[in-house]
Amino acid sequence: MLKLVVLVSGGGTNLQAIIDSIAGGTISNAEIKAVISNNPRAYALKRAENAGIEGICISPKTYGTREEFNRALLAAIQSYEPDLVVLAGCMVVIPEMMVKAFPNKIINIHPALIPSFCGTGYYGLHVHEKVLERGVKVTGATVHFVDEGTDTGPIILQKAVEVKPGDTPEILQRRVMEEAEWKIMPQAINLIANGLVKVEQGKVLIDGGNQ
Ligand code: GAR
Repeated sequence: MLKLVVLVSGGGTNLQAIIDSIAGGTISNAEIKAVISNNPRAYALKRAENAGIEGICISPKTYGTREEFNRALLAAIQSYEPDLVVLAGCMVVIPEMMVKAFPNKIINIHPALIPSFCGTGYYGLHVHEKVLERGVKVTGATVHFVDEGTDTGPIILQKAVEVKPGDTPEILQRRVMEEAEWKIMPQAINLIANGLVKVEQGKVLIDGGNQ
């Protein structure tokens, strides 16, 4: 059974998709040990509570320095001995010490088709604002392993989503979530939980996949 710790910051719809997929059986061989939020008001914590999952808050505001916060966050994660750390709408910049502690064991969902619209400053609604500003016709979402860079790790799954005339950032965000994020995040966890994902030379190979 793959033990997951899920890191969140806000609404937690991706967390909900994972919870529902485990309950419904589209994710097998995995269980959520804990949900950790940097934001005490994150609705994701309520979703964890509703599902009977332990939820805790580690807020940078309660630590003197970023270094202390990073250490506390890492210690909290390690206390659950997870096999996989899932960033599901987590807005914390993951420190190098965490990447070193969990090599190819941290995954993130990004609301665009990496390497487009990613990197520093590209998170949440801002990504969709930039997509609309640029006028691209196709966007999407990406699940990737986390390395020392920002959105630079090996790509596990991607799904394209159409940009439509009249889209606002909010409308586009919702479509990207519904059509891509809530599907590929559970799919990626299920593949990892069933031993079907390996990383070779910085690229992900999926057993039974066509890459
Ligand atoms: C999601 O769209 C996720 O892809 C994005 O934040 C949103 C969180 O929604 N993550 C990032 O931008 C990470 N760089 P949620 O809390 O409802 O899952």
